[in-house]
Amino acid sequence: MKTPTPIAEITGTGRFLPDNIVTNDDLAEKLDTSDEWIHSRTGISERRIAPDGMFTAHLGAEAAKAAMTEAGVEPGEVDILIVSTATPDRWLPSTACDIQAVLGCKNAVAFDLMAACTGHIYALSMAEGYIAAGRAEVALVVAAEKMSAIVDWSDRTTAVLFGDGGGAAVLRPCNGSGRGILSSHLQSDGNLADLLYRPGGGAIDPVSQSVLDEGRHLMRMHGREIFKNAVRSMAEACDIAMNKAGLTANDIDLLVPHQANIRIIEATAKYAGIPMDKVFVNVEKYGNMSSATVPVAFDEAREQGRVVPGSNVLTVAFGAGLTWGAMALRM
Ligand code: ACO
Repeated sequence: MKTPTPIAEITGTGRFLPDNIVTNDDLAEKLDTSDEWIHSRTGISERRIAPDGMFTAHLGAEAAKAAMTEAGVEPGEVDILIVSTATPDRWLPSTACDIQAVLGCKNAVAFDLMAACTGHIYALSMAEGYIAAGRAEVALVVAAEKMSAIVDWSDRTTAVLFGDGGGAAVLRPCNGSGRGILSSHLQSDGNLADLLYRPGGGAIDPVSQSVLDEGRHLMRMHGREIFKNAVRSMAEACDIAMNKAGLTANDIDLLVPHQANIRIIEATAKYAGIPMDKVFVNVEKYGNMSSATVPVAFDEAREQGRVVPGSNVLTVAFGAGLTWGAMALRM
């Protein structure tokens, strides 16, 4: 397939991580676990945990400021602000509206997008569509996750996996630059919702003393099933996105995968035919920050010079829903 002409390009990226580091050994003091178990099964050594008083909107707004500074965009120029989050600060209004107020993006349409760990790729694709329709000149795409607020800290099977952080990207029409989003493939399967979910606290089972006592407002996960589905779905999404972009695995300069588990990353890269020296990995430092992992990794990869003008980048993610997706970009 011929490489398509991109419509929207990323002109700035940013990230924000809380300073507070929690190591595997710190967790082993409170849970029946060990650094050896966590690191050998997941590749994670430590994660950032937001202190009391630092909320999802703060994580997202700080990442957004960095992306806007790089892109040279003033708050009033933002036409659309999409925030992917599985950890909104409140049920009403959206975290996007809170971030809009913090940033002063008074001309933007602002809303949250819920696609769990795949949220940033979904949001980039929605922003691209809005730009393609001629409705926006500047799109701000933010991923912000305070996973520590929905983790059951007494459950060793999930508590060791997650961390807090924010990432962001500014998207603009590429006006013939040849750089930008080449293709994307998004998918979801609601039949597998119960593999990773929060049973209570929503409209079905509103917050009550029994929800709180039984921890039904916290995350529950079937780890093995998630693992199998993640590898299969991400590998397939990579193939489809590369195919739509007219690229083969040999053309990819860097794969920026969702950072949930080093074994999932290695298996996905293997199936996609991309060697590990062309795969960006930072799961060791941050754990799984849900939708924030992809933009944080992307921003670090650019900072480290692993993404340069002309690079072909493939990004891929998988999460609750189930949702998954991949996107090919020329930088
Ligand atoms: N410390 C010590 N032992 C543990 C821990 C822990 N933190 N967690 C589980 N165990 C024990 C289990 O209780 C079990 O013990 P048992 O054999 O006595 O019953 C044993 O370790 C093996 O448990 P499994 O769940 O079979 O371990 P597995 O090898 O599957 O690894 C893991 C678990 C790391 C969660 C893996 O399944 C995984 O990574 N799944 C993907 C989950 C994920 O990344 N979810 C994030 C959201 S979706 C996404 O982002 C892709």
